[in-house]
Amino acid sequence: MYALLRPWLFRLAPETSHDLTLGLLAAASRLQLDTLAPAPVVDPIQCLGLTFPNRVGLAAGLDKDARAFEALGALGFGFLELGTVTPLAQPGNPKPRMFRLPEANALINRMGFNNEGLEPFLRRVQRRRYSGVLGINIGKNKVTPAERAAEDYTQALQAVHRHADYVTVNLSSPNTPGLRDLQQGDAFAELLTALGHTREALADREGRRAPLLIKIAPDLHDDDLKGLAAQAAERGVDGLIACNTTLSRSAVEHLPHGEEAGGLSGAPAHARALEVMALLRAELGPAYPLIGVGGIDHPDRARAMVAAGAQLVQLYTGLIYEGPGLVARVARALAAPAP
Ligand SMILES: Cc1cc2nc3c(=O)[nH]c(=O)nc-3n(C[C@H](O)[C@H](O)[C@H](O)COP(=O)(O)O)c2cc1C
Repeated sequence: MYALLRPWLFRLAPETSHDLTLGLLAAASRLQLDTLAPAPVVDPIQCLGLTFPNRVGLAAGLDKDARAFEALGALGFGFLELGTVTPLAQPGNPKPRMFRLPEANALINRMGFNNEGLEPFLRRVQRRRYSGVLGINIGKNKVTPAERAAEDYTQALQAVHRHADYVTVNLSSPNTPGLRDLQQGDAFAELLTALGHTREALADREGRRAPLLIKIAPDLHDDDLKGLAAQAAERGVDGLIACNTTLSRSAVEHLPHGEEAGGLSGAPAHARALEVMALLRAELGPAYPLIGVGGIDHPDRARAMVAAGAQLVQLYTGLIYEGPGLVARVARALAAPAP
């Protein structure tokens, strides 16, 4: 089915076909068509103190405004990560800001956290019917100066906490100036302290602690990754998501659009995402929750990510190239005993 649809979608500009598809999924959500969908692959796994119906999740960035999550949930995901949502609405970078690299099954994007802000996001999430695990990914507004970044994150955490099964702190988008600097040094330590205080207050107020994850970049040096991992685990961060998009262009610089600014995702990002996963698993021991994302466009790549140490995986670019059937294929493969 998707093989028939894809050429039509690929004739449109990437962001136009994204908006069109998401608009259709949002309409399907409003019409409650998701209630007609077949049940997802059943392969329950305990992680982060939650029961995930299966190991395959939607990666952040596809449904930034929580417009279509009911219909997305009906595609068979065990979990969905919505956002990145920032405290205030912001337009993102000028268009065009999303590019296909079909020769490499890849995308480059420099969206820049275009989103409607917390208020409409939460209005939609409050009406949730979706019964899988719902993660909410939070970020900082572009206009917020780096030294006040923690205020954006704590504000967003306070707002989403009650509605999220888990919360992801996104420190790794390459498209918000200075964001990735928050992954290291004093800025990282200060952010962890601020988040820790906010979590304590929320646990007192709401009687529950939503697991908190940090999403990291693949472009950190290995030693910095190890330092980040150790510090995060020590300071009570419940899990890591690896990886966001990469600044590396070595695999695609010869291709049309290969030199566009932004983050590269899809097949060329897979090898480094695997390396980072293996490094994190070695650093953090066998039980620490790790979600693997980056270039998973085939069941074998999902198996490789799990073999490298991920308990759960997420998809984004693979969906664009392979279609929604990828979700169940990957979920079935991960449910089966390793061949
Ligand atoms: C168009 C686009 C927008 C994205 N927006 C976000 C975002 O808002 N927040 C985030 O944490 N990751 C975002 N990502 C990164 C993905 O969640 C994922 O980490 C990355 O694309 C690697 O996975 P993939 O190769 O399966 O796409 C975005 C990716 C793409 C392609």
